Amino acid sequence: MSKEIILKEIVQEVRDIVQTEKNVTAVMQQICEKLHERIDVYDWVGFYLDDTETERQLILGPYVGPATDHTKIPYGRGICGQVAESHETFVVEDVNQQANYLSCSVNVKSEIVVPVMKNGVFVAQLDIDSNTIAAMDATDQKYLEEICEIIAPLF
Ligand code: SME
Repeated sequence: MSKEIILKEIVQEVRDIVQTEKNVTAVMQQICEKLHERIDVYDWVGFYLDDTETERQLILGPYVGPATDHTKIPYGRGICGQVAESHETFVVEDVNQQANYLSCSVNVKSEIVVPVMKNGVFVAQLDIDSNTIAAMDATDQKYLEEICEIIAPLF
């Protein structure tokens, strides 16, 4: 099955989940599990949440994959910190070409970070790492952005 078909299916499943599950942490956990399990090239899938206590910092939320040292990331630092400021999806074909990048593992080759915006306010982001170069493209972006739009009201 192509990655696009799987992503389409997962988008529909997320639409179904949010009809009954209103706990955003539980929803994020399920999304991480589905994406990680069903898409081969998604080697680490997690959410970073805007830290509402401390300004301009991200805190690691639910994730599936190897543990990361980056449990807190200041705005502006790494791909995640840049998306916290830009509010635009960042697709990185080759992480080694990025000067402002925080490495979680030497195995990671590419990354996508998608912001979750609630009523124009940045609340969280979906971060996916791949051990394959250029694993994510505009198709991934389209469906992952849909997922982030679907869950935004739960924050
Ligand atoms: N690579 C990210 C850090 C988070 S990890 O991928 C889990 C970055 O550059 O912001």
